[in-house]
Amino acid sequence: MRKIVVVNWKMNPQTLAEAVELYRFTSDVCSAAKEKILTIVCPPFVYLEELSKIESDVLLGAQDCHWEKEGAFTGEISPEMLKNLGVKYVIVGHSERRLFMGETNEMINRKIRTLLNNNLIPILAIGENYKGENLEEVLFAQLRSAFEGIDRVPSDLIVAYEPVWAVGSEEPDTPDHATDIVRFVRMMLFSNPVLYGGSVNHSNIGDFISVPEIAGVLIGGASVDKEEFKKIIEKISGLQL
Ligand code: PGA
Repeated sequence: MRKIVVVNWKMNPQTLAEAVELYRFTSDVCSAAKEKILTIVCPPFVYLEELSKIESDVLLGAQDCHWEKEGAFTGEISPEMLKNLGVKYVIVGHSERRLFMGETNEMINRKIRTLLNNNLIPILAIGENYKGENLEEVLFAQLRSAFEGIDRVPSDLIVAYEPVWAVGSEEPDTPDHATDIVRFVRMMLFSNPVLYGGSVNHSNIGDFISVPEIAGVLIGGASVDKEEFKKIIEKISGLQL
């Protein structure tokens, strides 16, 4: 089984030229490792069109989308618009959207339903806010509400366990703890890939990716640092998985 690497550029880089360069670099690095890694790159919306024209082994994802088909939703992007640009995956419920944009479990549920209706694959991010929070309760509630009203969760839907305190903090979870949580999620979603995300870098990637239950990683900050990203991919390529 190939490992999954989801690349989340967040609100970076600032120019189209830089985005194209970073995408070409990412594609080249990941193309050399394509037997071992499925890479999904999620750039800001405004770069998707241009990046979709570049031939590449990596797949395109978006960082968010709206739950409605069309209409009066200023500033929003519909699933159909994304699909028309060759997007296959969409991150839903990232902690930065939950925290800074007021995204609720109910909104996340609506987004997942819309994505599934549009044949787009959700990458659902879940995670507790602080260490010591009643983890299983929080994660169970997030998962239950995310899938409310959905009879069958398709097996390609991806879940990313991202403890909020570990995202962008340079304080990753421990591989043992992350593994426990991934196992917990898989008790509910047995056939779905579950990733770890939060301060992944070249020195800790091996500890997460070599765990059989961890299907891959979601990488934020380190994905826009070319040298760091290259080291991460090389590290994965060099492992016996
Ligand atoms: P990070 O972000 O790798 O910078 O911690 C992860 C994420 O996008 O959730």
